[in-house]
Amino acid sequence: MAKAPSQPDPRPQSETVKYEIVDGVAWVYFNRPDKRNCMSPNLNRQMKIVLEELEFRDDVQVLVLTGEGSSWSAGMDLLEYFRHAEQEGLHKVRQHQREAYSWWERLRWYEKPTVAMINGWCFGGAYGPLYACDLAFCADEAQFGLSEINWAILPGGGASKVAAELLPFRDAMYHAMMGENLTGPQAAALRMVNESLPADKLKARVQEVCDVLKKKDSQAVRATKWAMRRVMEMTYDNAEDYLIRAQEALNQFGGLESRKEATKQFLDEKTFKPGLGTFDKTKLQKD
Ligand code: ACO
Repeated sequence: MAKAPSQPDPRPQSETVKYEIVDGVAWVYFNRPDKRNCMSPNLNRQMKIVLEELEFRDDVQVLVLTGEGSSWSAGMDLLEYFRHAEQEGLHKVRQHQREAYSWWERLRWYEKPTVAMINGWCFGGAYGPLYACDLAFCADEAQFGLSEINWAILPGGGASKVAAELLPFRDAMYHAMMGENLTGPQAAALRMVNESLPADKLKARVQEVCDVLKKKDSQAVRATKWAMRRVMEMTYDNAEDYLIRAQEALNQFGGLESRKEATKQFLDEKTFKPGLGTFDKTKLQKD
């Protein structure tokens, strides 16, 4: 029997995203599982609020973005983000675009390291937050698709750009034009994600990655992730110059003290080797 036509989600905005903080890791969930976590205007607004709330908290060192239920995110909400906005007019369309793009932008330049943990479906607009996260790990069962072509639009909202950035040219073209999904292992082989794992191993692997990131000097991690994104757009000479200045700015942010301590632990105390792990930042003098 055919299902009844879709209705707007009655869930209040505050419930469209949920999070928990455990041992320095903020686990943030797209939380509309019955709508496959597609991004409604309410969800986009709430995600911006949550990201900003977590960004400067001392008890958050790493942020993981994942999905409740069987989906990471089924892209933009075709009912609430597209149809309803278009019925209201261009002002609403633009408002919804800005609200979506602005949290992806916030996430791309987040103060803390970010990890996408893709547990299931990942379509279209979800490529924005996928790309925004610094690292990405998925379940083998996850499916990635630029399904836009299947419902007669182009991959907008940055999705084309994400495919062009992450995939080799022929693969990006095929992906955008054919509307076929990639499995987790295929996405990993094409380097859209760092790794694909069996679903029951995914969280443990992401936790392991978070535990490593937590031990790094947080200022250096931030400077590194921002530098990696910036240099992608630069000539070699510009990148070289930018990186000198970024390191000098990092020095002003406590980087010099961290480096001195790390160097002391290696050269004088012989308690660690930079080639084999991270210095012990708990020994840093705090004043
Ligand atoms: N927009 C609006 N509603 C959605 C979306 C979406 N993107 N994705 C899922 N839903 C809703 C369904 O309409 C359904 O709602 P209902 O309870 O009102 O009927 C509910 O979520 C469950 O969806 P089903 O299709 O029944 O779930 P199923 O597990 O069988 O299929 C799948 C999951 C494959 C993700 C399917 O829902 C789908 O194709 N969704 C659309 C994916 C997509 O192309 N997204 C847009 C990408 S392009 C862009 O983002 C700009």
